[in-house]
Amino acid sequence: MSSHGTPTPMISRKAEPLKGVAEVPGDKSISHRSLILGAMAVGETQITGLLEGEDVLDTAKAMRALGAEVVRHGDGAWSVHGVGVGGFGEPDDVIDCGNSGTGVRLIMGAVATHPFAVTFTGDASLRSRPMGRVTEPLSLFGTTSFGRAGGRLPLTMVGAESPVPVRYTTPVPSAQVKSAVLLAGLNAPGVTVVTEKEATRDHTERMLAGFGAEVTVEDTAEGRVISLVGQPELKPQVIAVPRDPSSAAFPVCAALIVPGSDVLVPGIGLNPTRAGLFTTLREMGADLTYENEREEGGEPVADLRARFSPDMKGIEVPAERAASMIDEYPVLSVVASFAEGITRCPGVKELRVKESDRIDAMAVGLRACGVEVDEGEDWFSVKGLGPEGVPGGARAEARLDHRIAMSFLICGMAAKQPVEVDDAGPIATSFPIFMDLMGGLGAKLETAG
Ligand code: S3P
Repeated sequence: MSSHGTPTPMISRKAEPLKGVAEVPGDKSISHRSLILGAMAVGETQITGLLEGEDVLDTAKAMRALGAEVVRHGDGAWSVHGVGVGGFGEPDDVIDCGNSGTGVRLIMGAVATHPFAVTFTGDASLRSRPMGRVTEPLSLFGTTSFGRAGGRLPLTMVGAESPVPVRYTTPVPSAQVKSAVLLAGLNAPGVTVVTEKEATRDHTERMLAGFGAEVTVEDTAEGRVISLVGQPELKPQVIAVPRDPSSAAFPVCAALIVPGSDVLVPGIGLNPTRAGLFTTLREMGADLTYENEREEGGEPVADLRARFSPDMKGIEVPAERAASMIDEYPVLSVVASFAEGITRCPGVKELRVKESDRIDAMAVGLRACGVEVDEGEDWFSVKGLGPEGVPGGARAEARLDHRIAMSFLICGMAAKQPVEVDDAGPIATSFPIFMDLMGGLGAKLETAG
């Protein structure tokens, strides 16, 4: 069921040992960027492995509305005929990015240096999220934005007629903000420079270089400094999207907590800006190994093998690791509930402005499942029940947040009593084959009444 439709309650009961190979879909972050940069190149970009989740499909629609030709072929491959940097045309309707913060913020950046107005909206979750973090730096290029209170969607952005290049230091660790500024800088003359104090996922920088832009990255005392020379001619690319480590997190974590499990999750990118969860799990004592380590498309890749790990211990997750596992804290908090002792996660206030307030959503749902959770503005801790086990027997609210919905369904696979989720619809935004894939491994997921 679509995240825009009626709620689909789901129930997850104690699973059989999870066994088999879990081929998770394409990386969401890389999929958005492939479509957007493909649309800004001159000629045809070919993409295989694109994530066909609602978030990415909304970005494909937006690229069509801006003038690019985006086609899905019968074999599942996609092609994008780009219009070139500066070549977008005024869309004749509102751009609806659905549930996707990445989609809307990156597209705002991409259109900001074009001389026309675009109105953006999204679902109830996206309309509640802060957009000032993007409209503020984009105003430095010469854009004006009119949104609802707090800069929220629906929002109209009037693009800059004569954009100027920008130097900007991101005030929050956010790849979306960094990427919005870089994408805007593409159509500004001169050099746009973004500094981030903490490294966030670097797919935009890598892909810009792949498309032939002049981009340099320097590690300095102030942080990572990314410089982009504006108004390049981007060359179309052939892109094989790697599988998503953030989706891999779900079968991996499920295997660690369901007795008797042994699951292989092949072809997962271990880009250090994304792989923080796997390091954390190994520090907790998870039986998680990297097999067949290799390089693909310039990225480190491995097959992940996760086996039931009854002896995991709670740890303090270093705050400086937060950006590299920001989307994985919900499912980590489930694993932490089954480990022994306290897992403490500092430096995570960004979790409060995701598709939902993820600290609150997990704390409320886990407490209902019988787990003690403590929280502050930018931290939370989970008191793991270890061998005693997690009682479960609760209904958790997904709050239009795919990662919250999936995390509680994973919890139900190992808890003593089933765990229900009030709406599994949002899972289609990032992991449309989640139910079939987990069911194929041995999970017991059913639609609830
Ligand atoms: C993303 C960046 C992260 C992440 C999101 C995807 C991206 O958001 O949570 O799911 O593709 O750039 P922030 O940049 O706001 O941290």
